[in-house]
Amino acid sequence: MTPSTQIETNIKLPSDQDASGRSFGPEELAAIKEVLDSGTLITTKGKYGRLLEEAFAARMGVKYAYACNSGSAAVHVAVAAINPNPGDEIITTSITDMGALTPIVFQGAIPVFADVDPRTLNVTAETIEKVISDKTKAIIVTHLFGNPCEMKAIMELADSKGIPVIEDTAQSFLAECDGKYVGTIGKIGAFSFQQGKHMTTGEGGIVVTNDDEIARRMYLFINKAWGYGDPNPDHYFASLNYRMTELQAALAYEQLKKLDAGVEQRQKMAALLKKRIADIDGIESYEPADGSTMTYWKYCLRVDDTKIQDGSVGLAKALKTYDVASAPRYVVKPAFKCRVFSEQNTFGDSHYPFNLARPEAVDYSDEKFPGTFKGLHDILVLPINERYSEEHIEFLAASIREAAAQARVAQ
Ligand SMILES: Cc1ncc(COP(=O)(O)O)c(C=O)c1O
Repeated sequence: MTPSTQIETNIKLPSDQDASGRSFGPEELAAIKEVLDSGTLITTKGKYGRLLEEAFAARMGVKYAYACNSGSAAVHVAVAAINPNPGDEIITTSITDMGALTPIVFQGAIPVFADVDPRTLNVTAETIEKVISDKTKAIIVTHLFGNPCEMKAIMELADSKGIPVIEDTAQSFLAECDGKYVGTIGKIGAFSFQQGKHMTTGEGGIVVTNDDEIARRMYLFINKAWGYGDPNPDHYFASLNYRMTELQAALAYEQLKKLDAGVEQRQKMAALLKKRIADIDGIESYEPADGSTMTYWKYCLRVDDTKIQDGSVGLAKALKTYDVASAPRYVVKPAFKCRVFSEQNTFGDSHYPFNLARPEAVDYSDEKFPGTFKGLHDILVLPINERYSEEHIEFLAASIREAAAQARVAQ
């Protein structure tokens, strides 16, 4: 296939893997230089760790925020704060980054996978309810791609059972659900500052809460459970050093100031793209639920394989002709198909904590996950970031239109 002459072919889409798609400037450089000049790179002694936490808490409208060194660490801190007993169950999603799942195992709890809505790949109150048991200690909801889960129904369910909700907000900074930011609706919000996220420090993360006790445990878990400032400090329980450095904190502090503008640009460009491709038969854009707003970590389509040859895979192949890199089927397979879960590869040959699990909690039969397989089959993940301009969107929309025409199933 050759690209159509209709399309401007010298356009290169900004990438969030390098400077073209990121928003670093003199502000970040000055803050990092200040830290280096100070010679203090550790957040227990420097000022930026605290400044970042105060600013992030203020921006999210919560009482506490604690920075840590990855989104995986943020989820681990959240799970540790809930303090499950070995063999307790934590409900999570079948489709997410592995960094959101192994922390559950490291805290001795059993991840129990809920199916997802095939239209969004997000868990729902219905899919969660099906896997709640009397061993459920917490629910982790993951707002994928900048699109909030339907939190009203999920919170009603969780509250009716007295189960705390952790919101994995790694991909959904400033997305709103009924006027509240996701990450601030449940007991704990966990965020990632990894390279491709809405704001970034390369690696990094942060947790937020309004709960005093949970906040204390999260702070301690990040800090080897050492009671800094206490009259008789000690290492109170098993935990890790999950602190970020002052260099990262300085970078994050400056990135946070750019978050609103970046999100706004993503939303504006996503709205334009949606308009431009709305009439293309066989593809549909992901939509937020009523009362929600999306912040477009990525731009996702559902591709109908009765209209487009080989569905999302076929469309991705055709898009490559225009140098547009997309990800058909996102993570490709559900988490429970990964060997860490399918073979229970954990600590030595113990299979701990899965050796404590109810058989039903670790039954990963395909028929229990119809939404997962359908959603993964249909999805095409398109790139977008805060550096996209109208010109980029026009190019992307034209490429999608041409690619869909090339791959169209003959009627
Ligand atoms: C939804 C989700 N949760 C958790 C993580 C883990 O974050 P990190 O890569 O910063 O450890 C990621 C990936 O980055 C993610 O997308």
